[in-house]
Amino acid sequence: MSATRAINHHADHPGFAGVTGVLCGLAFLVVGRAKARLAAEVAQVSTDDHVVDVGCGPGTAARLAARRGARVTGVDPSSPMLRIARLVTPQRAPITWGEGTAEALPVTDGSATVVWALATVHHWQDVDKAVAEARRVLAPGGQLIAIERQSPDGATGLAGHGWTREQAESFGALCRDAGFDDVSVAAHGAGKRAGWVVSAIRR
Ligand SMILES: C[S@@+](CC[C@H](N)C(=O)[O-])C[C@H]1O[C@@H](n2cnc3c(N)ncnc32)[C@H](O)[C@@H]1O
Repeated sequence: MSATRAINHHADHPGFAGVTGVLCGLAFLVVGRAKARLAAEVAQVSTDDHVVDVGCGPGTAARLAARRGARVTGVDPSSPMLRIARLVTPQRAPITWGEGTAEALPVTDGSATVVWALATVHHWQDVDKAVAEARRVLAPGGQLIAIERQSPDGATGLAGHGWTREQAESFGALCRDAGFDDVSVAAHGAGKRAGWVVSAIRR
């Protein structure tokens, strides 16, 4: 890519391990709620769904999908995140937690109706590979949703953990090239809550 920041501009993040991982996981329990509601609304999650929550962190969106009656698989490479997810999730919830990455999902081919990725694509090591994985696990007609906060050009620190419009559109174009149709890139919310929602349907 040119001077533009990459879609996965935080791929070199050291990961969420140890005490830092636990503290971040606890913070994500709170800050992840609005994105989880937005994802469930965009996907119109119902009892017919198998939702794969890629980069699920402490599992906020996974639990919301399960409360709506979906079967859910939550995948994350960070064991502290998954430990928190398991601790705060009722045992009866229809959620399977799996340690893994977007680039190698522990999910059977064509078994998902929805794959969503909330505030995580900017961390992925290999976005092309991960989008191909999402396509592999989705049934035809299934929906891929990526949500990232809106970041202004040149943002640093926490504010930089998101996408400019250009980055959101690059991700949409990548989905189109990887065999998805009906790709849309939409801005949602305002102020600190402003985010991008990219939605794509598997051919
Ligand atoms: C900012 S947190 C978001 C967590 C959760 N989705 C939420 O909205 O609360 C980013 C998450 O992406 C995960 N992650 C990082 N690299 C990943 C990869 N290659 N594949 C899948 N998840 C990854 C991290 O471990 C972390 O849990």
